Order: sequence, then C-alpha cells, then structure tokens
Amino acid sequence: MKKSVRPIFSVVFLLAAAATLCFRIMVSGGGGGLELVYRSNVLAEQKPAPVFNDTLLRFAAVDLAEVSLRQDVEHLVDGNFRELTSGRRRSFLWSGRYRIDIRARSARGVPVQLRSPEFYRLWLDFRRYLQTWWRNHRFQPDVMSDLVNIANVDRGLKYKTCAVVGNSGILLKTDFGSVIDSHEFVIRLNNARIRGFETNVGSKTSLSFVNSNILHLCARRESCFCHPYGEKVAIMMYMCQMVHFLDYVVCNTSHKAPLLVTDPRFDILCARIMKYYSASRFVKQTGKPLEEWAGSHDGSSFHYSSGMQAVMLALGICEKVSIFGFGKSDSAKHHYHTNQKGELHLHDYEAEYDLYRDLVERPEAVPFISDKFKFPPVVIHR
Ligand SMILES: *[C@@H]1O[C@H](CO)[C@@H](O)[C@H](O)[C@H]1NC(C)=O
Ligand SMILES: *[C@@H]1O[C@H](CO)[C@@H](O)[C@H](O)[C@H]1NC(C)=O
Repeated sequence: MKKSVRPIFSVVFLLAAAATLCFRIMVSGGGGGLELVYRSNVLAEQKPAPVFNDTLLRFAAVDLAEVSLRQDVEHLVDGNFRELTSGRRRSFLWSGRYRIDIRARSARGVPVQLRSPEFYRLWLDFRRYLQTWWRNHRFQPDVMSDLVNIANVDRGLKYKTCAVVGNSGILLKTDFGSVIDSHEFVIRLNNARIRGFETNVGSKTSLSFVNSNILHLCARRESCFCHPYGEKVAIMMYMCQMVHFLDYVVCNTSHKAPLLVTDPRFDILCARIMKYYSASRFVKQTGKPLEEWAGSHDGSSFHYSSGMQAVMLALGICEKVSIFGFGKSDSAKHHYHTNQKGELHLHDYEAEYDLYRDLVERPEAVPFISDKFKFPPVVIHR
C-alpha cells in the first residue's frame, strides 16, 4: 500500500518544493523522447491532426473566476478572512478544532485568534502554501507529461491498470465489484460509501479523490477523521476555495496517509478543457452565441467535476484506464449511494461525457494538451 501511494504523493508534492523541482525534472525529461517517437508514429498512421476552433480556444482560456480568486488570495495572505468573495459569508470559520471568529479584530485588523502562537504557526504555513499555489497557478500544456515524470521518480513505472470509479447510480445495475478490484490502482470519488455496495463498486481503494469542500467538512471532526476507505488511503483534492488551505494545514499534520493538493497548473488545464467542451456543446445544441454560455452554466462558478479531474490524473499516471460509474440513465439514481435528485449546474456532465468519448475514440481531439503527451487507452464500462 505504502509503495503504491508514494509515487502519487510526488505527483502533487509541488506545494512543498514546487516549481523549481518540477522544472528541473521536465527539462532533463529522461526517457520522454522514446515515448514521443512512438506516439507520433502511431498517430501518423491513423489520423490527421485535429483542427481546433480558435474562437473556442480563446474563449475557454479565459477564467471568469480569476479576479475574485486573486482577491481571495490577497485577502487571505493578509489574514483578512472577512472579505472573501467566494463561498458563503459567515461570521466564523471552522478549521479542525480552531474556530476563527472573523468579526473579532485587533487594532491592526488581524483576527485575534491568529495571535495564539499555535494557530499563528499554522497560519504561516497556510500563507506559504497559498502563495506557492498562487505562483504556480498558470497554464502549462506540458503538465500532463509532468505528472508522469514526477510519478516515475519513485517507481520508474506507471501503474499498469487503473480504475476510476464514479458515483453514478448506473453502478447498481451491474456487478463490476471484482472487475474494479482487479485493477492495480483504484481511484474513488468524494468519499462515496462502499460498505454494502461491494458487489457493485468493489472494495479496493488506492486513492480517494475529493474536492476541498469534503475536507472542509471532515476538518470539523476529531483529527479530521473522514476515511470511508481506511485511514491509510491517500487523499488528493482540488481546491474549490482558497480558505480551504487552512483545513489542509490543520489536517495534514494528523493525517496518516499523504494528503495531497492537485497541481494548480493541472487544475487550469482541466478547467480550460471543460470550458472548451461545454462551450462547444452549447453552441452546437442551442445555436446561441458563445457569449450566452456563461448565463446557462453559472458563469464564474462553472467547474469541472471531481470525476473529470480524476480521469485526467489517471491518464497521466496509468498505462490503461478503465472508467466505471460515469454516465446517466433515466432508470438509475444520480448517485449509487445517496438519494440526491438533481445535478449541480456548475458542472456540465454532458460535456464531460463528450470528453470521455473522445478519450476513447480520438484523444488527439482533446484541446490544450501538448502533443508530447501520449494518451493511454481508455475503456468505459457501463
Ligand atoms: C504534509 O505532511 C507531510 C507529513 O508530515 C509532510 O511531509 C508534507 O510536507 C506536508 N505537506 C506539505 C505540502 O508541506
Ligand atoms: C468556431 O466556433 C465559433 C463559436 O462556436 C463559430 O462561430 C465559428 O464558426 C467556428 N469557426 C470555425 C472555423 O468552425
């Protein structure tokens, strides 16, 4: 177990040692050349290079949330928890056992809780991670190959087979449990329960992939305890709100398994890809101009789903990727493990299915990815 977790840990370890190391590995690039030749041969025989629509590429490259994100980072770095633009406004924040009353201010405007030496230390860490994250928050088309190189540092190999297990109710119609468990590396999403569903979803978990809201909720529990798959399973999350870095620093100290944050360059790549697919679908389906896309998809709240980023991660670290529990059906529940009815509008699941279809049939049609990257074969099980 430990062994299988370590390479993953290095994938996203950039928060600590960050860009310098990543770049050094990327530049020295060992072994990548061979793969590259192999890929271009295969592609040259099969298909012409795809033509991307420039208008859509430019549209997808604009992040509508960038301004408010920058403001959040600036406020938080200043210890100003009151002025956050994202998320619900509350008079206090919880983080682990720290209740931060953001109304109570000292003369200098720093919340009084930050004056406790213990919390102050955490806050310094928080600031440091946040600043590193923000510095790396930029587009980098090579980041997919980068995941591989960093993952290879420890093991020298990608995982042979990976299963990404989504949470769709369609899983209840099949008994894929043992097929899922037969994969070398199994990624599960957003802490979906497996107990009682083993025949449908399996029981092995190598990585728990979540959004940071989930950690934020877990952070209120004793020792941030929130491990439906066991406390030795590594957790990786993408940051939905910058203030969640506070939960991260609080929980990281007590976590037995690695607690990881996705590379912000990887986040940006996923965001651009999803916006491209969503906008392209919108224009085709509605015939409306691109400018109206934001109105129908929660504009600056639009976000890829955890499932999408987990699939992208698997592409980077696995030789073969199998996808389970992604997709809808009128006769199936939204989630296999909950009774949630509706979908969140901030995700565009239909556009995500378009992406998965391309990953199976013509991965070269996925925009924003450097052609140095070699896609592994992807199979969707339904
Ligand atoms: C989280 O904790 C681990 C283990 O204590 C540590 O090695 C790691 O550096 C911490 N994470 C970050 C981003 O510093
Ligand atoms: C690119 O997409 C835009 C918006 O959907 C569309 O108006 C335009 O015709 C497309 N261009 C090409 C060359 O297909």
